Amino acid sequence: MIKFGSVDITDDDRARLLKVLDSGWLVNGPVVKELERLFKGFTGAAHAVAMNSCTACLHAACVFLKERRKKKKLKVPDITHVATAHAVRLSGMSVDLVDVDEKDGIILPEYVDGNEVVVHLAGQPCEAVRKDTIEDCAHALGTRYKDGSHVGTRGLCGCFSFYPTKHITSGEGGMLVTNDPELAAFAGKFRAFGITTPPEDRKLPADYDSLFAAPNYRMPDILAALLIGQIERFEENRRHRGAVASVYQENLKDCAVLPTWREGTSWFIYQIQAEKRDALIAHLAGNHIETSIHYRRPLSAMTAYKARAVNKNARAFAERAVSLPVHKNISEKDAFMIAGCIKGFLKP
Ligand SMILES: Cc1ncc(COP(=O)(O)O)c(C=O)c1O
Repeated sequence: MIKFGSVDITDDDRARLLKVLDSGWLVNGPVVKELERLFKGFTGAAHAVAMNSCTACLHAACVFLKERRKKKKLKVPDITHVATAHAVRLSGMSVDLVDVDEKDGIILPEYVDGNEVVVHLAGQPCEAVRKDTIEDCAHALGTRYKDGSHVGTRGLCGCFSFYPTKHITSGEGGMLVTNDPELAAFAGKFRAFGITTPPEDRKLPADYDSLFAAPNYRMPDILAALLIGQIERFEENRRHRGAVASVYQENLKDCAVLPTWREGTSWFIYQIQAEKRDALIAHLAGNHIETSIHYRRPLSAMTAYKARAVNKNARAFAERAVSLPVHKNISEKDAFMIAGCIKGFLKP
């Protein structure tokens, strides 16, 4: 079976994890700080705040916009994971679902005015970003805008996910990067009960204040230990994904709608649009090829977000999208075979 996802944990990663266990410092310790330092270098952002999921990072950014910038509502593209919209709603703001580009599933630029979360869907760079835009980078580690800078650094902040299907994983985990010192300070407190002084900075035991009600979104060092090696060897991961994507791009051009080829895409998945989508997925499964869909239902079709507005492009995109795997365990030969199987079904 060709699996849709794969996890790349080496012996060095395991050794780093065991070292953390032996150290006895398991949460928000030196390895988390080391990961934050690596992320600042990798993305070029001034600040990085590790949390235990991308949802946590999005939630922190949304609460910041509501409490400190007095925003009441954010736009969210109709094609994304529910977490993007949940974070807005959990912060107490309301969600306005807006339409996406028919071909790539990215928010239409006319909706972007600084009051939105944009999603770099499937690892594609969404260029329309304003100073106050939250960038959902769950799919977009290694993705770069046209000017070469890393996504997540143009708007208010970028929020990354380390869930198992992502470019790199620790099971759960997230990272918020930002150039805004006020948000960085807020997020650092928001992730740990709104507490002023972390344990390592306390002069007296338990000597801390709490400034506002906030959850526990701390990242364990055990998770950070798994991510350090993966970020260090990321360029090889990205190069491989690009090579696999180019096999699909070359071999599927006559039978499906293909993503726009952009230099900055980091290919979280390779997403095509095809007629008879569900039959195609069944055909591929019959040939031992696992696929996925990002996303089968637009948010406006979810019970939590049932909207009056119908986003036409989003509906069409959700009906035809198929995600093909591009991870480390897919060889270029596998990609060629998968493309052949798709062509055989769509253009017999
Ligand atoms: C676009 C997008 N945003 C946010 C999330 C939430 O990430 P996490 O599971 O790390 O909270 C996901 C998860 O898959 C996602 O795909």
